[in-house]
Amino acid sequence: MGLTHQGSRGLHVESVALEDIAARFGTPCYVYSRLALTAAYVGYRDALMAHGLGERALVCYAAKANSNLAILKLFADLGAGFDIVSGGELARVLAAGGSADKIVFSGVGKSREEMRLALEAGIHCFNVESTSELEQLNELAGGMNRRAPVSLRVNPDVDAKTHPYISTGLKTAKFGVAFDQAFDTYRRAATLPHLAVKGIDCHIGSQLLDPAPAAEAADKVLALVDRLAAAGIVLEHIDLGGGMGIQYRREEPAPATADYLAPMLAKFTGRHEKLIFEPGRSLVGNAGLLLTRVQVLKPGAEKHFAVVDAAMNDLMRPALYDAWHDIVPVAKVGAGDTAMPYEIVGPVCESGDFLGHDRELALQEGGLLAVLSAGAYGMAMASNYNSRPRAAEVMVDGTQTHLIRRRESVAELFALESVLP
Ligand code: LLP
Repeated sequence: MGLTHQGSRGLHVESVALEDIAARFGTPCYVYSRLALTAAYVGYRDALMAHGLGERALVCYAAKANSNLAILKLFADLGAGFDIVSGGELARVLAAGGSADKIVFSGVGKSREEMRLALEAGIHCFNVESTSELEQLNELAGGMNRRAPVSLRVNPDVDAKTHPYISTGLKTAKFGVAFDQAFDTYRRAATLPHLAVKGIDCHIGSQLLDPAPAAEAADKVLALVDRLAAAGIVLEHIDLGGGMGIQYRREEPAPATADYLAPMLAKFTGRHEKLIFEPGRSLVGNAGLLLTRVQVLKPGAEKHFAVVDAAMNDLMRPALYDAWHDIVPVAKVGAGDTAMPYEIVGPVCESGDFLGHDRELALQEGGLLAVLSAGAYGMAMASNYNSRPRAAEVMVDGTQTHLIRRRESVAELFALESVLP
């Protein structure tokens, strides 16, 4: 994310010292780079362009990865559409200036109210995940005198080879319409008067590093598209979801966007359908970090602990998925500093509250650490557990730093609550 060491002032994002950000906005604090966000999006666009798909493809950023308005607005200005999963995300995207006709609405359990809001807004497509949802949407659209654009999310039964919690394309998953029922479900959809059958979609999981499963899913989807066309159901678009993984560890590189997409895109030469992608993590993950300060160093009998001011409520991924995030000191490490293995933990009252195990670092109390690759599913999954106000978020743009979400105050944490009369 344009992270560099600049002289004695330590780590910088673009041209801004993290030390200055901590002094100005406090810690814990999420820091994003406008340059890195832009580069990730442009990388996606260029890869599509290189396959002659520039005009035919729409990149719908999966808002769930990071739904801060500034980030949504940045992608909207770059021409992105959005993949949303709730009425809340719909409202955010519209508030950020995203165009409704570039929104796809995914999710296994859309409420009637959410469907109504999306229909009213005039979204591009509903990614429908069950027969019941089709019927509900048909009825609702009828009542509103509209036709709802739909695509069916099919479950291609492909093993994405990722963490089980973020694998979604197996038969056992709650997601999508089972592949062998999809054809009949399409035929049913085509008979419903208030639906317009537009496309097909699939999303097999997240943090995929191997392009093969996604290409295999694309093959299955294309075979179904052709079978449907032969039966008179001609689809306009194919949505291949998100899922492209990013590099979290120095030792585990992720494929470049173009290389990841190539095997999938190769299957679309000579076809007429429009393509939609729903990348989340790969557009924001490595464009953000979590800045935190060491509170206490605690040498233990077995392990040394560094208690920092960020915790599992700020970045849940290590606790939830045992996920690895590189953690680096912000200050330049001096020649005399000796590194030793630390458990990097937060102040939350759970043994699962850690940001990193066994990290070889030279640390001092009061020193700053950057938890890297935290732009995706970081702030978006943050909570107020232990009545901890959520972190501030800032965006660096060259030499400028903009506060894009101020730190919550403690008073705000219980402002919605009331005691009994
Ligand atoms: N489309 C659909 C239908 C999805 O369910 C998801 C992610 C995406 C697109 C975006 O996938 P991405 O490009 O970000 O992989 N909290 C987990 C990740 C959960 C992903 C959920 N669905 C984590 O922190 O690893």
